[in-house]
Amino acid sequence: MSKLEDIVSLCKRRGFIFPGSDVYGGMAGTWDFGPLGVMLKKNIMDAWWHYFVEKRDDMYGIDAAIIMNPKTWVASGHAATFADPLVECKECKSRFRADKIADGITESVTTEEFLALHVKCPTCGKENWGPIRKFNMMFTTHVGAVLPEDTKENPELAEKNIAYLRPETAQGIFTNYKNVIDTFYPSLPFGLAQQGKAFRNEISPRDFILRDRECSQMEIEYFVAPNTWEENFEKMRKAQHDFLENVIGLPAKNIHELEVPKEDRAHYSKRTIDFMFDYPNGEEELMGLAYRTDFDLSNIERESGKSMEYRDKNTKEVFIPHVIEPSIGVERLFLAVLSNAYTEDEINGEKRTVLKLPQSLAPYQFCVSPLLKNKPELVEKAQQVYQALKEKYGNVTWDDSGNIGKRYRKQDEIGTPKCVVIDFETLENDTVTIRDRDTTDQIRKSISEL
Ligand code: GAP
Repeated sequence: MSKLEDIVSLCKRRGFIFPGSDVYGGMAGTWDFGPLGVMLKKNIMDAWWHYFVEKRDDMYGIDAAIIMNPKTWVASGHAATFADPLVECKECKSRFRADKIADGITESVTTEEFLALHVKCPTCGKENWGPIRKFNMMFTTHVGAVLPEDTKENPELAEKNIAYLRPETAQGIFTNYKNVIDTFYPSLPFGLAQQGKAFRNEISPRDFILRDRECSQMEIEYFVAPNTWEENFEKMRKAQHDFLENVIGLPAKNIHELEVPKEDRAHYSKRTIDFMFDYPNGEEELMGLAYRTDFDLSNIERESGKSMEYRDKNTKEVFIPHVIEPSIGVERLFLAVLSNAYTEDEINGEKRTVLKLPQSLAPYQFCVSPLLKNKPELVEKAQQVYQALKEKYGNVTWDDSGNIGKRYRKQDEIGTPKCVVIDFETLENDTVTIRDRDTTDQIRKSISEL
């Protein structure tokens, strides 16, 4: 099995991530987070929120609606340009994202360029392609009490009630920029941060949770004076590295910056750096940092007829702010954390799998066990320690299944940093054994020191 397959298997076996709608045979590009996955995901999201919002004076959080007025997506350019190159094999009718089945081409590939590469169909092996068509990735839905039969009689109704599931959380921020300006009167530069679901009808969801049809994003729109964008871009670039490396614990050597060339940048961007990560299946985009200029606010101003101008309190200058946007997918960060933590090693001649998660991200901080579960005096004492630690740390687990070796192996696999064991010596002198996940070393400590 490849390392990615090992991670997928561990995620299912231990309740981190299950395939979406598993019981009905699944739903491509969707995944469900299980009890441990939710804890790890929440710890990652909380770490981001703490670092970028709570610790800073220049950031405000928001939580906007997922379904927005469709004008949003006209103004943002998504209705016209949020599309991937779709190509169909005329032999077997399989459909692919063209730039994902051939090397050295990008999303802007033309039919001629694609045909010149003589790509074989990954499904049937033949080479008989139709033209490249642009496929808009936004999911559509209808809002309001309109029945299918109503739209048959009056097709305009369907068009009128159409709405989209947001393909990025960013637009919920831009459309609230004016509300925040009018209620909090922030000085530039300031940022609005949001975490939430985004939906993309990806042509080829793949690599476990790396490319999903439903994902969570953590985005900041950082509003700056136009002539300061470069210095703010640089500060934001450094902050991303600090967060990824020093808070999340990803090794700097596995993060690579890619300066995205003009032809590959999103329609709104004048500069983009993709932060690439060495995933088990190779280097992939973990997050992006973009200079969105005044593209979004100017378009909102035009589409809504409302002024998006900012008036500088000192200089009295009036202008539309420019925007620096760091945008990261929670699932991609989750997979980077798991890939980095997943380790197979050998302890005293025995193979084991261990998730070397940073302590702050691990689902459980401690596991508490009685050495033997059929000794009521040990169980009672262990319960006291368990309740006390749970009171103090919250995320503490209890395990009295199987023998102690099996418990250690299970806790290693789910990344619990410390196992606390109550044995007969505990009853004599109130000390416990603490076993370290990474070194497997055991030390004795008094309960009061825990
Ligand atoms: N607002 C800017 C924006 O959405 P993007 O590069 O399209 O930019 C930002 O997406 C980040 O969102 C990506 O770097 C990635 O981490 C995550 N992301 C995007 N599409 C995704 C998908 N289909 N599955 C998982 N994560 C995705």
